[in-house]
Parts: sequence; C-alpha cells; structure tokens
Amino acid sequence: MATRSFSNFIDGQWLASKSGHLFENRNPANQDDLIGLFQESTPEDADAAVQAAQRAYASWRLVPAPKRAEILFRAAQLIAERKEQFARDMTREMGKVLEETRGDVQEAIDMTYFMAGEGRRLYGQTVPSELRDKFAMSVRQPLGVSSVITPWNFPMAIPSWKIAPALVCGNTVAFKPSSLTPLSAVNFVNVLTDAGVPPGVVNMVTGGPDVGTRLSVHEHVKVVSFTGSSAVGRIVNQNAANDFKKVHLEMGGKNVILIMDDAQLELAIEGCVWGGFGTSGQRCTAASRVVVHEKVYDEFIRQFVERTKRLKVGDGAADGVQMGPVVSEGQLQTVMKYVEVGQKEGARLLTGGHRLESGALARGHFHEPTIFGEVTPKMRIAQEEIFGPVVSVIRCRSLEDAIDIGNGVAYGLSASIYTRDVNRAFAVMRDMYTGIVYVNAPTIGAEVHLPFGGTKATGNGHREAGTAALEVFSEWKSLYVDFSGKLQRAQIDTEEI
Ligand code: UN1
Repeated sequence: MATRSFSNFIDGQWLASKSGHLFENRNPANQDDLIGLFQESTPEDADAAVQAAQRAYASWRLVPAPKRAEILFRAAQLIAERKEQFARDMTREMGKVLEETRGDVQEAIDMTYFMAGEGRRLYGQTVPSELRDKFAMSVRQPLGVSSVITPWNFPMAIPSWKIAPALVCGNTVAFKPSSLTPLSAVNFVNVLTDAGVPPGVVNMVTGGPDVGTRLSVHEHVKVVSFTGSSAVGRIVNQNAANDFKKVHLEMGGKNVILIMDDAQLELAIEGCVWGGFGTSGQRCTAASRVVVHEKVYDEFIRQFVERTKRLKVGDGAADGVQMGPVVSEGQLQTVMKYVEVGQKEGARLLTGGHRLESGALARGHFHEPTIFGEVTPKMRIAQEEIFGPVVSVIRCRSLEDAIDIGNGVAYGLSASIYTRDVNRAFAVMRDMYTGIVYVNAPTIGAEVHLPFGGTKATGNGHREAGTAALEVFSEWKSLYVDFSGKLQRAQIDTEEI
C-alpha cells in the first residue's frame, strides 16, 4: 500500500511545504509501521500561516461570539462521532493505550463543548461610575493571531485547550503540533474545517524547531501558547519578549503523592500505579515522586512493587495491555540514562530498570515500569523531570516533612495527599505550592472546566482550561459612556451628597 502523505493547512487549503521535504511518522510500538509522511516545513511556511491568520482575523473577530461558539459546538459533535478512529490513530502514533487515547479525545470533546458554552458568556463587568449620568463597563477583546505550539503526549486534548478558547474569543490561529503526533493534529484541523471554521482562521504547519521559532517571533503574532519542556519554554518566552507578546507557558513537572500513615493504603497504591505509569509516565502531571510516612513505608513498598510487576506492557492497541511504549528512541534513552543515574546515586532499584526487547517488543520503544526506593529528596531522580515510567519513593517522618520534600523541587504543577484526616488534607491544600492539589486521588486527571497549570518552572503565571483560558486569549477594554451632555471630570468633580 502506498504511504499516505499529509500537507500543511494554510488559508483553507492543504499545501505542500516550500522545502519539498517530508518526515516520517512511525508507530512507537512497532517501528516497521509507517503511519505517513508529513511536511518538513520552513520558516517561510510558518510566515504563510501567520499571514493567512492575520488576513482572516479582520472578519473573524467581528463574527458574533455565539456564532463562533456554534461552530465549536459542531466541532465537538464531530469529534465525538469520530472518537474511536481518532483514538486508534493516536495510539498508533504515540503509543498510549486505547483506553487513554479515548480519554484524550474525550478531553478535546469536553473542552470544545465548554468553550462553545463560553460564546454566550465571555463575561465582562458593568460597574457604577463615580459620576452621575455616566456608564462604565469592561469587555473582552481578542488579541489577533495566536501561535499554538503543542506536545505529543496529549495530541488532541492540548491543541483543543488552546485552539477552542482562542477561537471563541475571536482570535485566529497558527498551529504547530509536535512532529511525533501530526496525524492527531490533522484530524483535529479536519474537524474544525468540517464544522465550518472559515479559511485562514486556523492554519497548521508541521515541522521542527525553526517553525516554532518563527511562530514565536513573527511580528503579527500577538499571543503564543506553548506546552512542552521548561528548556524550550524559556526559548519561546525569550523569542516573544522583544515585541511584548503575551506568552502562556505550560512546562515541566515533578509531581508528588504524599502518603500518610492513616491513608487507605490500597487506594493509595492504586493511585500511584495510575499516576506513575499511566501514559508510561509521560504526563506533565505524572506522579514521579511518592513520599511515604515511615510507619507504612515497608508495607507500601511491598504492595506497590507487587502491583507494578503485574502491569502488562505492550502495544497500546492490543487487548489487556496496561502500559504502552515510550514515544521515541530518544525518550527511551533518557529513561535509561535516569535509571543509571538513580543507581549511581545510591537509590535502590526495586523493580524494572530495563528496556524490554523480547519478541515483538524489540520493534518498539518499551521500558519496564520502574520503581526506586530509598530515594533521598535531593537526588537527581527526585528533582528532574524524567517523563517516563520511573517512580522515586522517598521516606518521610511527618506531614510537615512530607510537605517540605514535596515543595523542594523546581516545579509546581500537581500534588496529592492520601489521608483520612481532614486537617492534614486542608494543610496540604493550603501549603503545597502547586497549581493543582488532589486529596485521595493521584496527581493526574484534571478536568477541563477548572484552571490547569502550575507554579515555579512549570509556568509563567497563566492558566489554561476553564474560564482561566479566556484570560490568555483575550484582553480587557474598559468603556465609559458619559450621557450627561457636559464635561464631567473623574477624581476632580467630587460631589457632596
Ligand atoms: C499533560 O500531561 O500535559 O490531568 C496534560 C491530566 C490530564 C492532562 C495532562 N487531564 O493528567
């Protein structure tokens, strides 16, 4: 069968890159499976996308928000209709198990419906004026062209978190998906087009870092929303700084589950397995650290290791598989490097630690789910984001100790506590300096209608999802209407009552 090749989407047309080059997209569970060829685009292609978005902005910003929202509503319906195919495509291109890719597509459906609802809100404020016969209010304005740069681990959910709010607010979009998951991006763009998004309003360009760079420096881009590593986020931020673009960054994590001596241990262990090894640990919310009270440490380790050993690893599309491959050979090498680092640092390798290469697994990027015990808080495996199936277990003496360890990293995305003590739960909700805190649930599983994002090296103060996303993709305009027919001077004409 001939290999399918896919194009960029610019100004309503599927176009080849000016480079004339294509790159391959292969299945991480089986490198013999070539999914398709995609455009290796150039900065000029990125320019064309931004120019198309800039032209389309002139009319899109004036489409009433409830009408923009109706298009999103139709898009959500179409994603729901195509959910199974999109999930299968996604598992094939990035590896996570089908149950999870269905969840990823569902997250895109949820977000697109949520933002469709916002089209009839987009609330501003009306406030009393300090002067008689004067009216005061604020409205949300779109910014213009939005650059959307997204990762491979949530290849449909994360684009939807950015593109749906951008569109409902009246912006147009230049979108660069990860080169590891361009098919899911094509699927999403097709849905938007089929739902009635006009030409030029959403443009997609596939390719490498120079495409992303151009999208973050182009003079017509007014807002950049990026999800990826903190190292790349810093570059995006610097690129965009020169002409004061608004920048939303969602970056790394070193999330923690705190397990107290009064926790329901089985529940906590289930949470650690799901939080640590779901998506093969490749979530920015992954529970890569578990801090356990010394009184229950040994029992926790015994059960956690036993449960983890039973995890079935394989092709995410196959029945009964619980953990898929990691996304690429590069990612696998990173995981293996950290296993070596952990051993050199003196942590105890309790299970896993190896690449899986038997039989068909040799064709993919598989790694055993891996647990290190007796990790100390400053070890590199307890500090650095690994983005793979490696969990570090750290011993603690008290809740205060656990909170200190939990906060003692450069990142601040998600934290969780397992306890039956309401006082401990509230202390953690208050004292963990993270964007998200869970009680009696793992660090993953954020819902679309609350803000998503983190503190410190995880973010730059913005949040996505929920109505917080509207803050990224709109800016305030304050409007004053004086109907007194005379000059009234704020702060000067101070009327006695
Ligand atoms: C991510 O890993 O970048 O809360 C996003 C969660 C998912 C989203 C993760 N809803 O784990």
